[in-house]
Amino acid sequence: MPESAETHKRLHRKRLLYLLSGGAIAIVLLVIGAYDLLEFMESPEFCGQLCHVEMYPEWVTYQDSTHSEVTCAECHVGSGASYLVKSKISGVPLIFATLFHTYDTPVETPVHDLRPARDTCEQCHRPERFTGDLIRYYANYAEDEANTPETSSIGFKVGGGQSEVASGIHWHIGAELWYLPLDDERQEIAWVGVTDSNGDIETFIDPDKADQITPELIKSDKLLMDCIDCHNRATHVFNSPEDLIDKALTEGQIDLDLPFIKKKGLEVLDPVNASLEEANSRIELLRGFYEQSYPDIYVEKAEEIDKAIEQLKHIAVLTTFPTMKATWETHTNNATHEGCNRCHGTLAAEAEFENDPINSVIASNCKLCHFFR
Ligand code: HEC
Ligand code: HEC
Ligand code: HEC
Ligand code: HEC
Ligand code: HEC
Repeated sequence: MPESAETHKRLHRKRLLYLLSGGAIAIVLLVIGAYDLLEFMESPEFCGQLCHVEMYPEWVTYQDSTHSEVTCAECHVGSGASYLVKSKISGVPLIFATLFHTYDTPVETPVHDLRPARDTCEQCHRPERFTGDLIRYYANYAEDEANTPETSSIGFKVGGGQSEVASGIHWHIGAELWYLPLDDERQEIAWVGVTDSNGDIETFIDPDKADQITPELIKSDKLLMDCIDCHNRATHVFNSPEDLIDKALTEGQIDLDLPFIKKKGLEVLDPVNASLEEANSRIELLRGFYEQSYPDIYVEKAEEIDKAIEQLKHIAVLTTFPTMKATWETHTNNATHEGCNRCHGTLAAEAEFENDPINSVIASNCKLCHFFR
């Protein structure tokens, strides 16, 4: 059958071509040099732009964060050889997933082998070496004509210190705290074990999940609590449009004297738009609003209106990720009340629970974590 022989030949030729091009790629890689390649693979440009579709939300939020000067690799790879091996191995399936578009939307989190390790953060931060309090200021603006501000401040007992004396919120780092999550997202915590300096373990359990805890499960699935169990949004912060508008009003990127700017800004950005183009064209409509309802301001504050529109477009970039379906609601931030309440107010000291079901529960009174002035 000449036809199938021809097909066979063609297939053969195709295979040869693949082999040859594979060889060519290998040679190019050799020429670039293994070292440069590794360095390139660790640069934010590689991570953020080559896999740009799935990494895009992480790349964009990273660029707007405190850590924008820290490379992806400094957190995700670290310096130890074991992380290098681990992350490159899990990096390969990720690259294949990109090619075949089999990735999850949004990218699954926590990312198991790519998860930053405690000692990557500790290249720069050492909670056992610093102790103290932190005061944070919050400003919220009402959706009225004057964008009326309401400000508040609250103290955090951040604490820290070496294991023997550690206290406050960073006590968890000084302590050796193991926890058993029942789900991949690590939100359903059923068991906690705190090892003291003698090696004894004090255990806490969620009474509602007691029937799901077995010694085998604890042994195989327990995790050592680290920075990322709370600071999982250390750099890829998926803020809501409301938080970002409030921030821009506080920092002066949006003029507080533009009537209803908070309300109007929120209207066009929340709920999230189907595309950035849609968000931008809706933001542009704000000019018409000022021209019609506040003709004087439209003329006097033309420059401020331009600036506000530009800033709202920037906020749209930080919040509109339709392809990866990432929003401020899809990414839980564990450094919040919800994150703390996975254990606080939920789990109870196992030894005392039966006799004292109320007081055995891990404390969640405000003054455990805050101080008020
Ligand atoms: C300051 C440290 C830090 C830097 C720098 C950093 N990341 Fe992350 N990244 C994290 C943490 C923490 C998580 C959450 C991990 C978890 O929950 O297990 C994360 C998670 C992710 C995820 C999983 C999805 C998600 O949002 O949780 C992706 C994808 C990601 N990072 C990509 C990147 C890329 C690309 C860069 C560089 C452009 C980068 N990261 C830079 C700390 C960092
Ligand atoms: C290469 C250095 C470096 C690494 C690695 C690093 N950080 Fe940071 N981090 C910084 C710098 C610089 C700041 C800003 C300090 C300031 O503005 O006062 C910061 C700020 C912070 C803040 C407070 C400000 C904020 O954004 O809320 C937290 C929390 C934080 N880092 C957590 C982490 C965690 C968790 C990791 C590991 C996943 C990490 N950092 C890795 C350098 C680093
Ligand atoms: C039990 C949860 C938890 C763990 C674990 C944790 N942190 Fe924090 N950390 C917080 C909270 C809460 C704050 C204060 C409020 C905030 O910044 O949101 C904070 C504040 C910080 C700050 C800012 C301090 C300042 O003065 O601005 C840094 C930096 C930081 N943590 C780094 C780390 C590092 C590094 C680790 C791991 C070695 C770690 N944290 C472990 C919850 C935690
Ligand atoms: C995995 C479980 C778990 C999570 C999540 C958790 N904690 Fe804790 N925390 C504990 C346990 C256990 C203790 C010790 C309770 C005891 O000994 O009665 C504790 C103690 C504390 C203490 C008192 C430390 C001291 O002795 O001075 C503070 C403050 C605290 N946690 C704050 C936080 C904050 C803030 C968060 C969220 C950002 C948080 N915790 C999240 C388990 C957790
Ligand atoms: C287990 C520790 C913990 C306890 C207990 C706790 N908080 Fe918080 N609180 C936090 C953390 C963590 C944040 C988030 C920090 C951030 O946004 O940077 C926070 C944020 C806040 C904020 C500012 C942000 C907001 O949501 O408005 C207020 C106000 C606040 N807490 C009040 C309280 C009050 C009142 C109580 C008692 C009913 C309480 N907290 C109990 C840990 C705690």
